[in-house]
Amino acid sequence: MCCEAFLPVLAVSISTFSLIMKKLLFLLFFVLFSYDRMGAQTPVVAETAEQKAERMAWFAQAKLGIFIHWGIYAVRGVSESWSFHNNYLPYDEYMAQCAGFTAERYDPKAWVDLIEESGARYTVLTTKHHDGLALWNTKAGTLSTVKNTPAARDVLTPFVEEVRRRPNLRLGLYYSLLDWSHPDYPNFTRTRSRYALKDEPERWERFRRFNFAQLEELSRAYRPDLWWFDGDWEQTAEAWGSADIVRLLRKYAPSTVINSRIQGHGDYATPEQGVPVVRPKDKYWELCMTMNDSWGYQHNDTNYKTPQMLLRTYVDCLSNGGNLLLDIAPKADGTLPEEQVEILRTFGRWNKKHAEAVYATRAGIPAEHFQGYSTLNAAGDVLYLYLPYRPNGAIEVKGLLNKVHRVWVVGNGAMLRYKVHNKNYWNDLPGNLYIDVPDSVLDENITVVAVLLDGPCRLYRGEGKVITSN
Ligand code: GLC
Repeated sequence: MCCEAFLPVLAVSISTFSLIMKKLLFLLFFVLFSYDRMGAQTPVVAETAEQKAERMAWFAQAKLGIFIHWGIYAVRGVSESWSFHNNYLPYDEYMAQCAGFTAERYDPKAWVDLIEESGARYTVLTTKHHDGLALWNTKAGTLSTVKNTPAARDVLTPFVEEVRRRPNLRLGLYYSLLDWSHPDYPNFTRTRSRYALKDEPERWERFRRFNFAQLEELSRAYRPDLWWFDGDWEQTAEAWGSADIVRLLRKYAPSTVINSRIQGHGDYATPEQGVPVVRPKDKYWELCMTMNDSWGYQHNDTNYKTPQMLLRTYVDCLSNGGNLLLDIAPKADGTLPEEQVEILRTFGRWNKKHAEAVYATRAGIPAEHFQGYSTLNAAGDVLYLYLPYRPNGAIEVKGLLNKVHRVWVVGNGAMLRYKVHNKNYWNDLPGNLYIDVPDSVLDENITVVAVLLDGPCRLYRGEGKVITSN
């Protein structure tokens, strides 16, 4: 009896309970759904380490990229954008260079032929430097080679089309996030700014919309394999909207690779000019470097590094598992300076001959083992030694635990004589490997010696031992 009296009460509380549960579930779904839409709780691009490795695979094997800084700064031969920002010349005079940008001898096929010949596997062109002048027919902004220069045309598209005709070449687009010419961008010159971002948030929002619009134009038209951002240091990731930029770029090119200059949202590190001394911690990195001291064409800058020095830096990058992005600087008429052509040709000759010791390699052995540059093949059983000099006697490898099967000169075929000294039966130290490299096999730039091992390279990393028997 007494239980029956409670039944209606129980029924009411069950239905209230289920109502509450339904509401809770709805709330839960709402929260999850809206979080997802805002992307606040999800990483920008969710991918495993394996997925990233797959996306980065071409980049890791590309080794050489050619950077191209082309803009109105080539007309007078002043530093790209920085010359007005640093007040070396007035802004109006800087922009007056527009009148000299003719591109009348611009031959994108010749550029790309040469880039391909150099052995580069990617190329990165400045679509817009910090001065804001777009090389394409932007609808989002007012400054472009189409509207403001006698070239009066889009000079980016023909380049992209030419690159896309080459199956071995990937396309990279350089884009300066900051734009010192834009009326809604806060910074102008080193001594003058337009406004403080915090004071005029709606003005900054206008600039952001402009940046997104340009990035969308470029994405839609070209779907690049790589984005090379620059100028990120002036604002935070939140201000730029870095995460949203990455989402936008991936929408058009899902596996695109993005450099680090986007405030923490990139895929690889970009040391500039300074060759890393110790091996960079980032798995993926690229050293960008000029051939003389300038990114853009400057007729006064004749301070070229020799092809040999540049090749040496390239091999240094290979040996530490990185890429070299080597810059060329076309003139305002579109032609390339002779010195730069010669450097690219030297790279071409060397890369072609030594291809096996370039593209499929990874970082080599520590310098304690070989006083020079080295890499390993993918399986780890071929050790490549790079000799940018003429050896004075046999070259030496220390602490190699493997048995050596054979040693030859890459791109030349000659087998080399080798011998292990200091290997004693009473300890497990591996002894020293000596390889004779006669003058007759030397390359005119950098000789590469390949050492075939009995298995993946193993190294003795100890301090040596005292004798226990003799
Ligand atoms: C720098 C400079 C720029 C150049 C770039 C290339 O960040 O701002 O002028 O284009 O490096 O790496």
